[in-house]
Amino acid sequence: MKASLMNPSRPSPQEQQALSEKLEQANRQLMQSEKLAAIGQLAAGVAHEINNPVGYVYSNLQSLEAYLNDLFRLTEAVDSAQSLDDLRLIKHNIDYDYLREDLKDLLAESREGIERVKVIISAMKDFSHIEEDEFKPADLHRGIETTLNVVNNELKYKAEVIRDFGELPEIECIISQVNQVVMNLLVNAAHAIEDYGRITVRTRSTGHQVAIEVEDTGTGISREHLNRIFDPFFTTKPIGKGTGLGLSLSFSIVEKHNGRIEADSQPGQGTCFRVTLPVRQPEKNSHE
Ligand SMILES: Nc1ncnc2c1ncn2[C@@H]1O[C@H](COP(=O)(O)OP(=O)(O)O)[C@@H](O)[C@H]1O
Ligand SMILES: [Mg+2]
Repeated sequence: MKASLMNPSRPSPQEQQALSEKLEQANRQLMQSEKLAAIGQLAAGVAHEINNPVGYVYSNLQSLEAYLNDLFRLTEAVDSAQSLDDLRLIKHNIDYDYLREDLKDLLAESREGIERVKVIISAMKDFSHIEEDEFKPADLHRGIETTLNVVNNELKYKAEVIRDFGELPEIECIISQVNQVVMNLLVNAAHAIEDYGRITVRTRSTGHQVAIEVEDTGTGISREHLNRIFDPFFTTKPIGKGTGLGLSLSFSIVEKHNGRIEADSQPGQGTCFRVTLPVRQPEKNSHE
């Protein structure tokens, strides 16, 4: 105590311990808030994607109900009709031929809509293990497809997405967290594109390692910013659009996976982020 009063620039071991605990706690809070931001983004995207198919399936059900009422009218008339001509008249009045064709279309369209919703829900499930902490062999391409589905809404008006996939082995990872890294890179790429551009997602394997690249034709990153993009809270985006936490969170996820994340950028032309991950984790992680 006394020593630290005399020399305030050198904290005692206890003070150091307290400081580092505080730092750790602040770091955990940061991670938590970025997770929440990611979940919010996810929820908004999913709501948007589901809204459209659910809307037309709902309206198709209303048409189907009206068609069924017409068809019931026709079948019930079998008992009360005096002649076949009466039946033919009803059949003509309900525009039977059109109804028959449209029924088929409505059912096919509704099935397609529900299938789209099912895909989104299964993508959500892959993402929802966000608290999961277990390293397991996982298919990265499946994770990337899931992630593309989830951020589709952010990407589709900004860029054509090109998949340049190599052959990949399953890799030992926490897939929900790797998905989160890919999501951050994709959303950043879309943000960097002013009008309409291209985002290339590339995967390669060297046997012991795999690389995922997300390359965009956006504004690029200036040399002095390039050193700071992985710092927590570093953002060039207006308040409300950027938290400055995406890349710092991605960095810690990749670090935890014993991998590397790096960026290469040509201002005015675009940026390429590359994540390199080991196929197998050292003993400690794989048994965590
Ligand atoms: N693909 C990219 N193209 C250009 N700049 C980028 C790209 N990705 C990240 N950046 C820069 O890095 C900063 C930090 O990114 P990030 O940590 O995800 O935070 P945020 O997206 O909330 O700003 C961004 O504000 C932006 O300036
Ligand atoms: Mg970001």
